[in-house]
Amino acid sequence: MRVLVTGGAGYIGSHTVLTLLEAGHDVVALDSLANASPESLRRVGDLAGREVDLRVVDLLDEQGLTDAVVDARPDAVVHFAGLKAVGESVAEPERYYRTNVGGTLNLVRAMDAAGCRTMAFSSSATVYGRVTQVPIREDAPLGATNPYGWSKFMVEQVLRDVAAADERWAVGLLRYFNPVGAHPSGRIGEDPTGTPNNLVPFIAQVAVGRHERLVVHGGDYDTVDGTGVRDYIHVVDLAEGHLAALERLTTTAGAHAWNLGTGRGSSVLEVVAAFSAACGHEVPYEVRDRRPGDVAASYADPALAASELGWTAERTLAQMCEDAWRWQSANPNGYAE
Ligand code: NAD
Ligand code: WQD
Repeated sequence: MRVLVTGGAGYIGSHTVLTLLEAGHDVVALDSLANASPESLRRVGDLAGREVDLRVVDLLDEQGLTDAVVDARPDAVVHFAGLKAVGESVAEPERYYRTNVGGTLNLVRAMDAAGCRTMAFSSSATVYGRVTQVPIREDAPLGATNPYGWSKFMVEQVLRDVAAADERWAVGLLRYFNPVGAHPSGRIGEDPTGTPNNLVPFIAQVAVGRHERLVVHGGDYDTVDGTGVRDYIHVVDLAEGHLAALERLTTTAGAHAWNLGTGRGSSVLEVVAAFSAACGHEVPYEVRDRRPGDVAASYADPALAASELGWTAERTLAQMCEDAWRWQSANPNGYAE
């Protein structure tokens, strides 16, 4: 299959490009490099033994995007490109809706022009809004608590409507839980700009000495040890979930939501312990107040992806932390020199 990967230079995109190449597919990556370095795909090329074809294009450049998609002649698209920082989305909602919703509308039009109507979309467990019941099934009530989450909710609706109006479309709405870790080579991984908001990249930076300690946001939740519980999923398992979804979408029309999670919840303190074991020293932390907007526990019911895609996440929390540590310790400043 020939696959166009938007956002292919980013964290999840670069791992998915590698998984697709290793499975024998042809890949064209498209990225504006707004939040990524081309070095990620250079290293993917090294690992795969094949240079990656990267087109530097912005989703908001409608003509440039159409030209690139038509020229790439994809059989399917994996759509990662977009903005993902929750706090930034509250401060700059218009930019988030324009990029995530408007950018996807441009992509749908470009794909139509190219005669390609198969798309796996990067949605998020954030579309479950205020979680009231765990594990979360795909038919749980939807909502959001910030503009980033609403942008994912809106794109899901747009894609459902597009698929309902034209039966040539096949769309996977892939709802990721908490992607962490890195390729086991330690050559590619997550390289956040500025201070990370997410737990594992922050812990990794504490472990290499870039921060003094982790602040644990809340120790009084109704959970195993009082700290927040999440469904951490290894980024390579997640990449493999995309491959499984693409294979399924080539034989099924319509829009389908699939949770990509492990089904297991881990508390913040369990992650700290696993990371400490991986890096060989204690990661210092202090427990402070809850972070506004956080829920106590969120984890997937992954049964639908198992039955419909034949995919389950296999890698353990220990592997996620070992691989995140290998990447972080070998690349303390990410892709920067
Ligand atoms: P990332 O920022 O590393 O990747 C996104 C990529 O999109 C970057 O390479 C960036 O340069 C590119 N991009 C941004 N705006 C663009 C534009 N206008 N035109 C073209 N390219 C553009 O983030 P990631 O963690 O790899 O996330 C990938 C996708 O998965 C995103 O859509 C994100 O919302 C979604 N997602 C991420 C998580 C997570 O925790 N990382 C969880 C759920 C969903
Ligand atoms: C995990 C746990 C925190 C940082 C976010 C987005 C969501 C999705 C993934 C894209 C929570 C705790 C964290 C820290 C801490 N992104 N924590 N100290 O909040 O589940 O999800 O990223 O779709 O939309 O909201 O992930 O990694 O921020 O937090 O104690 O410094 O770690 O309270 O319990 P979250 P996270």
